[in-house]
Amino acid sequence: MQLLDGKIVSQAVKADIKHQAQLLQQAGKKTPHLAAVLVGTNGASETYVASKVKSCAEVGFKSTLIRLEENISETELLSTLEKLNQDDDIDGILVQLPLPRHIREEKVINAILPEKDVDGFHPVNTGRMVQGQPSFIPATPYGIMLMLEHYQIETAGKHAVVIGRSNIVGRPISILLSLNTNPGNCTVTVCHSRTANLKEICLQADIIVAALGKPGFLTADMVKENAVVIDVGITRVADATKRTGFAIKGDVDFEAVAPVCSYITPVPGGVGLMTIAALLKNTLRAVEFKS
Ligand code: GUN
Repeated sequence: MQLLDGKIVSQAVKADIKHQAQLLQQAGKKTPHLAAVLVGTNGASETYVASKVKSCAEVGFKSTLIRLEENISETELLSTLEKLNQDDDIDGILVQLPLPRHIREEKVINAILPEKDVDGFHPVNTGRMVQGQPSFIPATPYGIMLMLEHYQIETAGKHAVVIGRSNIVGRPISILLSLNTNPGNCTVTVCHSRTANLKEICLQADIIVAALGKPGFLTADMVKENAVVIDVGITRVADATKRTGFAIKGDVDFEAVAPVCSYITPVPGGVGLMTIAALLKNTLRAVEFKS
């Protein structure tokens, strides 16, 4: 079994982004600038956004964090986004999800200009991605593809089973793995909460992407010998031994599954780090598209 090490790969990707940003500057182009919008005080969202802002600085990007009250109206949030759309210095905009219940996620996603939508959630980017056209690809699926590419994992003709069908991870990764690209060219099965015979389907998989958000869900009896296992879960689970009071748990029972696999991503230290690297890559591309 070999670990797919998100730390090593994300550092390599970030070093390349830093270099590309320097080249842009030498060519007289602008410094990439990401605007991150955080509504409310969700603990996990605070951590993710802080990490995104910190990573911008690491690669020489500018970032602006816009914090809005939990009870901000949808109209106010949309007008904040309109200002960011109009601001020529802002290249990429992300609104951290989930949003408070009174705000319609769809309205917010649709309000971001597709050319600044570095999360790749706007329907224009989704449509382009589905057709295999250049687009912003959602950061987590993009990060997974970069990880598969880095380790030169053979995907063509393989059976990939994706557990989860969210717009952020499950659905886009299922599409990316099925495209006529490398990595890609998989035969893909998408499983979800209504799937019958999940275990039997997983046992046929050469590649499993677990993206359902249930800690320890994928157990060793569901995994074929030498399968590649990608764990997208990052659930906070109470743990009194930790300084923070919680531990981060993946969707895979790592201890039991790891000995069965050819490759596996750890949690933490796997896909999560790749998500941020992919977001930075999208932000760099937002500037490159302009020039
Ligand atoms: N919430 C969970 N994942 C993501 C992500 O990739 N982008 C944003 N904006 N919110 C998220």
